[in-house]
Amino acid sequence: MKTKHAIIKSLALTTLVLSISNAYAEDVAESSKPVVEQIVNTLTKLSGGPHKGYRANHAKGIVVQGEFVPAKSAATLSKAVHLQTKPSPVTVRFSDATGVPTIPDADGNAFPKGIAIRFQLPEGEYTDIVSISTNGFPAAKPEDFLGLLNAIAASGPDAAKPTPVEQFLGTHPAALAFVQMPKPAPVSFATEAFYGVNAFKFTNAKGETQYGRYRITPINGAEFLTKEQVAKATPNYLMDELPVRLSKAPAKFKIAVQLADKGDVVNDPTVVWPETRKQVELGTLTLNNVDAEGAKFEKATMFNPLVLVDGIDASEDPILLARPAAYAVSYGRRLQE
Ligand code: HEM
Repeated sequence: MKTKHAIIKSLALTTLVLSISNAYAEDVAESSKPVVEQIVNTLTKLSGGPHKGYRANHAKGIVVQGEFVPAKSAATLSKAVHLQTKPSPVTVRFSDATGVPTIPDADGNAFPKGIAIRFQLPEGEYTDIVSISTNGFPAAKPEDFLGLLNAIAASGPDAAKPTPVEQFLGTHPAALAFVQMPKPAPVSFATEAFYGVNAFKFTNAKGETQYGRYRITPINGAEFLTKEQVAKATPNYLMDELPVRLSKAPAKFKIAVQLADKGDVVNDPTVVWPETRKQVELGTLTLNNVDAEGAKFEKATMFNPLVLVDGIDASEDPILLARPAAYAVSYGRRLQE
């Protein structure tokens, strides 16, 4: 006959086995979900979320309105309707990285910054450009991006050295290069340069095709805070600065495309092309005012880099192709909450 002590011990053991197998079952269940859903889950975990009604990444943002005027050179690259002669109204959302809706704008984790541009086209159509403030991405495939995020999530203060993220960076040079990239705090969202990172295929009216990556550059040049200014920056300095700036004068960016040379890799966002590559100017983006209904708009809107028009096609980049499904998971949850 078992003693009371032995029964308690065996119950404790059963509970331990059950909780381990539950955790195992959860891991198995999690790893059987689509990779994009796992990425959204890890982003949510990393942000201390879920944060009701916010994006799983780039949660903190500001929405502004303006206009895009195509340059003459744009039509040489693409027959896309907004790249011909007529201006298009645009709505632009600038954002801080991570799913933390209250992240301080100068926080090291609030990089890269994001820009999402929606071009309003005739007959209620639209097309989007969604870019970041780093020239490059840490992973060539969604599975590797998930690996990086999971390694970060497993590298809390109690993690044994080398931590999972140190191990990951040690074996993934592109992720290491990304985390080591300088990511200085901009004076304003209007003084930050943004990069398309993923390549697209552009086709002009003659049927000529070229691969390229977007560049969105402030016309008056990029401008960053000094270390001293970063230390003094208020948590919402970027969100507070933009309305003041735009109430005085519009902010202007040049949108261009950096063209791939023969032999350049067009389906891997970890491979940065040399600065010497030719650029074609697409036009001028002018931002006029902050959208008074911005909070409502950003909740109801999913920007999507693959809402494209005739004359622009996706490349075969697996990161680019994974983005809409990931954004849709986040968007679906935002609407439900
Ligand atoms: C597999 C790769 C990626 C995944 C899984 C991913 C995931 C996400 C998710 C879940 C969101 C929130 C979307 C929403 O709720 O509407 C988001 C937003 C965003 N992502 Fe990505 N992302 C990826 C790659 C990229 C790349 C390569 C760029 C830039 C070139 C980028 C730029 C942005 C920006 C700017 C936003 C904010 C868009 C907005 O203002 O609505 N992402 N991302």
